[in-house]
Amino acid sequence: MRVFRSRMMFSFLRTLILILLCDVFGSDDVKSVSVLEGDSVSLNTDVTEVQSEQKIMWTFGPQRTQIARIYKQNIDTDATNTILENRLQMDNQTGSLTVRNIRSEHSGLYELQIYIYRGISVKRFSVSVYALLPVPVITSNSSNCSSSSPSSSSVSRCSLLCSVVNVSAVTLSWYKGNSLLSSISVSDLSISLSLPLEIECLDDSYRCVVAYSFTNRTKHLNNTDLCQPCSDSVHCCGSTEAVIRLVVSALVGVATVAVVVYDITSRRAQ
Ligand SMILES: *[C@@H]1O[C@H](CO)[C@@H](O)[C@H](O)[C@H]1NC(C)=O
Repeated sequence: MRVFRSRMMFSFLRTLILILLCDVFGSDDVKSVSVLEGDSVSLNTDVTEVQSEQKIMWTFGPQRTQIARIYKQNIDTDATNTILENRLQMDNQTGSLTVRNIRSEHSGLYELQIYIYRGISVKRFSVSVYALLPVPVITSNSSNCSSSSPSSSSVSRCSLLCSVVNVSAVTLSWYKGNSLLSSISVSDLSISLSLPLEIECLDDSYRCVVAYSFTNRTKHLNNTDLCQPCSDSVHCCGSTEAVIRLVVSALVGVATVAVVVYDITSRRAQ
């Protein structure tokens, strides 16, 4: 009980100290920003117009390396000798910072310091750069028509597998229209992630979606080779259809030959 109480006390004191520290430095919470590799990200100051004498400074990383600033309306975004060199852009109206063509090594803490009358206002952005999402691949892992018994009224089932490779922090899901059928999530890097789905027949409202919390990619199930379409599911495996086609073309062929032969013989007779 005493241990518990002193722990409570300790965590209370720690919280109090943290609150005081934050107050001194005038920082609010860290804002999380998620972005895809290769995209541009803009970090907003929420300043509507930078005053002519105002100084705004951006830093990056735990060392708070200065990467950009605006002072007396002069903008410096060179970020010389840093990994952000030649990637930065600053809005001269607002002081907002844009990082172009962002890469994973540019993940980290970006800090904004606005020098205001008798103090500094600080904003922090935690930027996470995510690898591009691959388009999911849908495969069929059984034959289209696996009737449980030949006499049954063609209860064909189709087993599908949706897969993605080399992903992390994603959710893989099957949808039919807007309803979620099943899903699986991984947080760590996964070499290969798959989710099975069994359907009776194919219609194009099925889709497989791979998603980060902020963006996603979709593969629609529209390849008719994978499963029997719902509209003509009576033609199991297409074998009956093939036989009928063969017979019909044979008949047409025989008829054509007969007509031609008849034509030639009747001409000769004349
Ligand atoms: C996929 O992203 C779009 C916007 O980009 C969103 O409207 C949709 O809800 C997302 N879908 C899923 C399954 O996350």
